[in-house]
Amino acid sequence: MPDTERSLQDALGRVAGAPDMPALGRLAEEFLGKTGIVGKLLASIPSLPPAERKEAGLAANRLKREIEAAIGARREALEEAALASERAGEGFDPTLPAAKPRRGSLHPVTRVQRELEDLFTSMGWLVLDGPEVELEHYNFDALNIPRDHPARDTMDTFRCDAEGKLVMRTHTSPVQVRAMERLKPPFRAIVPGKVFRNETKDASHEHTFHQVEGLAIDRDLSVGHLIGAMKTLLRGIFGRDIEIRLRPGYFPFVEPGFELDARCPFCQSGCSVCKQSTWIELLPCGMVHPNVLKAGGIDPEQWTGFAFGLGLSRLTMLRYGIDDVRLLLSGDLRFLEQFA
Ligand code: PHE
Repeated sequence: MPDTERSLQDALGRVAGAPDMPALGRLAEEFLGKTGIVGKLLASIPSLPPAERKEAGLAANRLKREIEAAIGARREALEEAALASERAGEGFDPTLPAAKPRRGSLHPVTRVQRELEDLFTSMGWLVLDGPEVELEHYNFDALNIPRDHPARDTMDTFRCDAEGKLVMRTHTSPVQVRAMERLKPPFRAIVPGKVFRNETKDASHEHTFHQVEGLAIDRDLSVGHLIGAMKTLLRGIFGRDIEIRLRPGYFPFVEPGFELDARCPFCQSGCSVCKQSTWIELLPCGMVHPNVLKAGGIDPEQWTGFAFGLGLSRLTMLRYGIDDVRLLLSGDLRFLEQFA
């Protein structure tokens, strides 16, 4: 088919010479559109004698592929040339910073948690983890809170089964017993993690929040060691010595048990954070109850321990002046981006 061949050569020549993208676009339309050479060839097929149709179809397809390939090659060459001339042109500055990708940032709770982990690991403490769906045994019984004990009422528990054998842990204390079962005393460990309570949400209550449990097991530990550790903790958090006081507090798994208050780090004479009292209720703590040591397989005649339960969510709020706990889990970028 010399005619077709000539049209093809002509088309390829013009494509190769297309000066710019708009011209190339017009040529594509001209050659590949309905009235182009390919279109015409295809349109003529039905009127050909049956014996010639197959050949004509194949020829049309070959033509189409060759023209398409030539257009593709020319497009690439034009783009390359455009880029090259842009790069060579006046005012092109390859050192200009590119558009910045959007970066995420650490959650404020994660930041404070990592600081505490650094502080405690620097003193030789371990960082442990435990399950969020916990056995009733570890969450309550092994912590000296039997089924009919009124202390269970203070923790509105999410149950995961009808009998309540499986619960969402209401505190990180169950990991105390898990740690005792696994580690040989003496040891010291913190356990940061999420805990869950069936709370009605408001500015200071959430169903999910964070705690950091602390547990030290050694020979002859006393309340003095507990106070020393807590003072070091506060110095690490606030960067200076902070006065503390202990009030009696009741938790079935510590004896004696305390509420530790810290002198308000934000004021001298009373502010909204300390509710004008100059003291902030910071964390409950105490000496590990012998029954808990026994539940963890540790001999209370030989070993002693102290434990504390730091409210990580609360501490984060104190640290950054966050006045509504619900913001922490809101996933609201306007809130989170402030910690970038
Ligand atoms: N687990 C207790 C709570 O969540 C806090 C606590 C921990 C008290 C360790 C004493 C010792 O309320």
